[in-house]
Amino acid sequence: MSSITDQIKAELTANNAVLVAHYYVSSELQTLAEATGGIVSDSLEMARFGQNSDADTIVVAGVKFMGETAKILSPEKTVLVLDTEATCSLDEDCPIDEFSKFCDQHPERTVVVYANTSAEVKARADWVVTSGSALKVIEHLKNQGKKILWAPDKHLGNYVQQETGADMLLWQGSCVVHERFKADALANLKAYHPDAAILVHPESPQSVVDLADVVGSTTALINAVRDRDEQVFIVATDNGIFHKMREVAPHKTLIEAPTAGVGADCVSCAHCEWMAMNNLENCLNTLKTGNNEIKIDASVNHQAQNSIQKLLDFTA
Ligand code: 13P
Ligand code: SF4
Repeated sequence: MSSITDQIKAELTANNAVLVAHYYVSSELQTLAEATGGIVSDSLEMARFGQNSDADTIVVAGVKFMGETAKILSPEKTVLVLDTEATCSLDEDCPIDEFSKFCDQHPERTVVVYANTSAEVKARADWVVTSGSALKVIEHLKNQGKKILWAPDKHLGNYVQQETGADMLLWQGSCVVHERFKADALANLKAYHPDAAILVHPESPQSVVDLADVVGSTTALINAVRDRDEQVFIVATDNGIFHKMREVAPHKTLIEAPTAGVGADCVSCAHCEWMAMNNLENCLNTLKTGNNEIKIDASVNHQAQNSIQKLLDFTA
């Protein structure tokens, strides 16, 4: 009996399928994606890769919105996710009916939504952005004199607002993983490692972002570990990212930013429970059965495509 990875490789070939993985999924899935001509990346590059691929089927190891984004950009392809229950608190916090009402109340504002949203919310938006592109897009819109309605992540929205000075009205969603990082405990940890650089994903609270040497997307944080002179890094994002960080800088020391402290409900919980639902077993099962296919209403797909394509063209 061949190994599970060999079976997945055979299924990928037989289905002309490609595996596209996020940095937060297991190291086994990341390794397999790269070994089979797929990609491991941040959400922006996952979207771009799927669109440019010649494969008939895109298998997304990540969360639901990543699968939907792949489908929106490649409606003619089959897009499979490993578990349809793998969602994102930002997506769940922003239901289309309430969001649409909010937009209707502010018709003078340009609607910009984070990629971590449903296809319907993306279809209601003028622009979709990711953590790697939000600052540039908002700066561009601000220079055109636009006022922004932003959803769903209040922390990322607040960070972008502070950096750009744009007029932004914020939806109040948050990421359950990044929201748990604690500034007090992080400052204490830094005191033990004064030479360490602090890397923070901008879904984290302002008090944590304020302590950062680098604030950026998952790709930006990995590049910082690779390129900066420091030998020790304290990392405030999902700990799935450590796999790629160790690969690009094997001799550097990586420390998880603390989630302990007043109000925390865990000591070190920096791992997204939905990303953790992706594994080799459900990857193989999905490929064998063709289950977990993403389906999106054609008119929603068309409208959402316009707002994502703007981003891809803007960041090309
Ligand atoms: P990136 O776009 O930086 O990969 O972030 C996606 C995400 O869900 C972070 O929690
Ligand atoms: Fe969503 Fe947070 Fe999980 Fe990213 S880490 S998928 S933002 S819940």
